[in-house]
Amino acid sequence: MVVRWKHVLLAFLAAVILGFGFAWSGLMGVGARSGHWAVTDWFLHWVMRNSVRTAALQTEPPPFDNPEMLKLAAGHYEQGCAFCHGSPAEERSAVSRNMLPEPPDLKEKVPEWTKAELFHIVQDGVRFTGMPAWPAPHREDEVWSMVAFLEQVPQMSAEDYRQLAGLDVTGGSNAVLDCQSCHAPERLNGKSLIPSLAGQSETYLRESLFAYADGRRLSGVMQTAIAGLSKEQLASLARDYASMQRGSVANHDANPRGADIDKGRELAEKGRAADRIPACLTCHERADGNPSYPKLSGQSVPYLTNQLRLFRQEHRGGTVFGHLMLPVANNLTDADIENVSAYFASKQE
Ligand code: HEC
Ligand code: HEC
Ligand code: HEC
Repeated sequence: MVVRWKHVLLAFLAAVILGFGFAWSGLMGVGARSGHWAVTDWFLHWVMRNSVRTAALQTEPPPFDNPEMLKLAAGHYEQGCAFCHGSPAEERSAVSRNMLPEPPDLKEKVPEWTKAELFHIVQDGVRFTGMPAWPAPHREDEVWSMVAFLEQVPQMSAEDYRQLAGLDVTGGSNAVLDCQSCHAPERLNGKSLIPSLAGQSETYLRESLFAYADGRRLSGVMQTAIAGLSKEQLASLARDYASMQRGSVANHDANPRGADIDKGRELAEKGRAADRIPACLTCHERADGNPSYPKLSGQSVPYLTNQLRLFRQEHRGGTVFGHLMLPVANNLTDADIENVSAYFASKQE
């Protein structure tokens, strides 16, 4: 028999109508308890692996040369991932084990993926599974810190995890305790990617927290950390931190990358007219300065360089004065950023 195109079309239409009929009948189970058929499960994972592999083709991982990446990621993992995936310190919950698909124990799964593949899973999430995308776009730096952390998970002890995530930090009210697991001055050092808040201007701290809350400054880590807190609570936390004694990273390794501090000082004091870079000190570190302008001394080189790069890429929002930094950062070269950061990190208040 000759198969005509009309027969093919009719067979196709019949299949579509049957499919809709079955879906309409309500006989198709959508409950999570019984799980997928083996073939569905295989197919979905096959699609996911192919998609992640293709997305990762063009992605070059940065060097994982700063052990402080792990602290920021471990703290965020505890707040944003552990309730589904469990952690080195805690088994997955019964709730999570009844999800479909079940969020896997990452100890077993991480070694199956390359760094670049993990990057895409964590940045983009996995559709139809409950695995969320990173809460903030354009924060590749945060996602890479998470990848660096995930790579350590298979061999991480519960004790190491608790230390990295700051779960043992004590003192302060409960709300401060959560913030302290990342921001406690004794947890910071010259390589920290987490900023020092103690003794920072109260106005700047408060307005920055509001900027995270309103999505004007994007950080998956901070936006998760303050989720659920009211503006009054944020303002009160800003007051608490502003009243603490400001520490300094100067005695730690204030210049971990060996940058030229003298050149940094010159840029901070005089700017560079030829490249339309104003002197940083016209706005920062002034006793009579606008309280919305942050102190930079006492911050680490990696934190300062990271923020300057984000400003330069126009991915760093902030307070209503945030736009002032965009033209400043736009004209800085990589070497300028390293030098001026080393200068501020080594500066005593
Ligand atoms: C609401 C629950 C949920 C949260 C929160 C969650 N995940 Fe997932 N995650 C899942 C599920 C479900 C899968 C399985 C996806 C699949 O089967 O394809 C998954 C898969 C993954 C995978 C791939 C593992 C594999 O081989 O399937 C990684 C890596 C991962 N998650 C990391 C994270 C990180 C890091 C965070 C926090 C930033 C996080 N997840 C937050 C539910 C969650
Ligand atoms: C998981 C670690 C973590 C936790 C928990 C955390 N933070 Fe942060 N915080 C960070 C990181 C990382 C940044 C830098 C984010 C960025 O790049 O914008 C930051 C930035 C900030 C800033 C901006 C500082 C500046 O100099 O611009 C403020 C203010 C702040 N955090 C306050 C808090 C408060 C208050 C809490 C508690 C409710 C808190 N943080 C909890 C890691 C954390
Ligand atoms: C015209 C005023 C002005 C000048 C000049 C200026 N800044 Fe800023 N800077 C600001 C303001 C305002 C902010 C706060 C942005 C926000 O988050 O709202 C800021 C923020 C920053 C931050 C982020 C601090 C943090 O805690 O996250 C860094 C780093 C910084 N400036 C470095 C510099 C450097 C380096 C120079 C000189 C090359 C410079 N600034 C010149 C006004 C200025």
